[in-house]
Amino acid sequence: MRTYVTYISGKTLEEKGIKSKKNCLYSLDSSFIVQNTIMAKFIEVGRNFWNIRGSYQIYCGLIEIGTQMSMIRLSNNRFLLLDTVPIDAIAKTTFDQMTDHGRLIEGIVATHPFHTSSWPSWYHWYPNTHYYGTPRHYRLFPDIPWIGDVSDPITQQLWEREGIFMKIPDGSTFDPEDESNHFSSLFVYHSLSRTLHISDTITIEENPNLLLRCFGIYPGYMRFWPLKKGLRKNQQAPKEFQEFMEIILDQWDFDNLVVAHHGVKIGGAKEEVRKLLNSSRQTIDRLSEK
Ligand SMILES: [Fe+2]
Repeated sequence: MRTYVTYISGKTLEEKGIKSKKNCLYSLDSSFIVQNTIMAKFIEVGRNFWNIRGSYQIYCGLIEIGTQMSMIRLSNNRFLLLDTVPIDAIAKTTFDQMTDHGRLIEGIVATHPFHTSSWPSWYHWYPNTHYYGTPRHYRLFPDIPWIGDVSDPITQQLWEREGIFMKIPDGSTFDPEDESNHFSSLFVYHSLSRTLHISDTITIEENPNLLLRCFGIYPGYMRFWPLKKGLRKNQQAPKEFQEFMEIILDQWDFDNLVVAHHGVKIGGAKEEVRKLLNSSRQTIDRLSEK
């Protein structure tokens, strides 16, 4: 289902000089926004934690892999947002109702350097909240007044009093020179809902097609973004990543996992991540020998 905004600030698209509803991109100096997106979906994952599924298509729109943002309600009833997604008019209305038209947004945190396309829209809608970006977000959007770099441990610790913990995986490069390396992302754990938010480092096959099922891919199957390409190119990196994952599994009591591409796993997520790590040990050992 596609939903279009046909009125912007009380004017029709034609009055705004927009001929086509499709693919109208927003820039920071624009005075309008048009969303061309499959309806965003809100999922209540756990206590005070919502995941919003947005549309992200690859191969010229042939394959929908989805993308995500999350909302965490803090103890002061304000919201910390993780990432941004394209949202349609209906989803935006829901969001505005939840956040009193954005007045209850405490801040918005970028967790992945290459998930960037929706940030200008969100800044346009909500210019008065606090923005926390990756180094790449700083470079791409110098007009957004970023107040914290998420690769800085001081920024990562800002919400620990709220039971929100953040880490970047060891063995990976968070701001890679190779722009096709999307492995690394900020891991965010919300203890109250027992939910872990990760972008590309892990993907979940929510509804594998028949062909994938023939190869043993079941609903909820997880995989790492390719380790060989993603990890740093030194002998220590694979083991550093493995140890990082073991610490996460040991210290963070998560039961749910939300990831950018393909979906969410509500309940039983830790067992699946442990299974994934165990099944990756051979690859990690092999990469460590190089
Ligand atoms: Fe991604």
